[in-house]
Amino acid sequence: SNDVIADIKHVLYTKEQIQDRIAELAAQIDEDYADRDILVVGVLKGAVMVMADLARALHSHVTMDWMAVSSYGSGTQSSGVVRILKDLDTDLMGKHVLIVEDIIDSGLTLSWLKANLQSRGPASVEICTLLRKPEAAKVEIDVKYVGMEIPNEFVVGYGLDHAERYRNLDFIGTLAPHVYS
Ligand code: PRP
Ligand code: MN
Ligand code: MG
Repeated sequence: SNDVIADIKHVLYTKEQIQDRIAELAAQIDEDYADRDILVVGVLKGAVMVMADLARALHSHVTMDWMAVSSYGSGTQSSGVVRILKDLDTDLMGKHVLIVEDIIDSGLTLSWLKANLQSRGPASVEICTLLRKPEAAKVEIDVKYVGMEIPNEFVVGYGLDHAERYRNLDFIGTLAPHVYS
């Protein structure tokens, strides 16, 4: 069978739990930004689902832009050396930038990205991530909006992939062992 659900060991967050938490984050963001327009920057590809749902839950004026970055270096480990594959279309000068991510793992991607965007003259740069793995952190980053903190386990779904699969799941879960073997 080609049933993607058969590959899931354990559901960590259901569709409803994700949507409830995103609504809470959006309410907090609306309150914090009050009378300011927000430029939300989604980091491809993992952040597509969070971007789509968070943007629809916001009542603030927003514009949306996207970046694609790649961490390269030794194998599968994020090196902290980041290459821009697709840059923003927007000039950041004077803008209130909110970077949207699906997950912060080592923190190396976002640490580099935040500094990069800060160097472009924005009025502010903040981060919103749905998931964070505190135990996996290799660098300290100031993250204003965190959906859920999770253990240091490999998770998929809701934008998060394993070899590019599982991004389309509307929940977040762990993979069954047979997927790895
Ligand atoms: C994943 C995830 C974050 C980043 C987090 O992206 O979506 O962007 O890794 O890792 P870090 O905190 O250790 O830097 P990935 O590079 O897998 O690309 P993708 O979003 O296209 O899946
Ligand atoms: Mn990503
Ligand atoms: Mg990935």
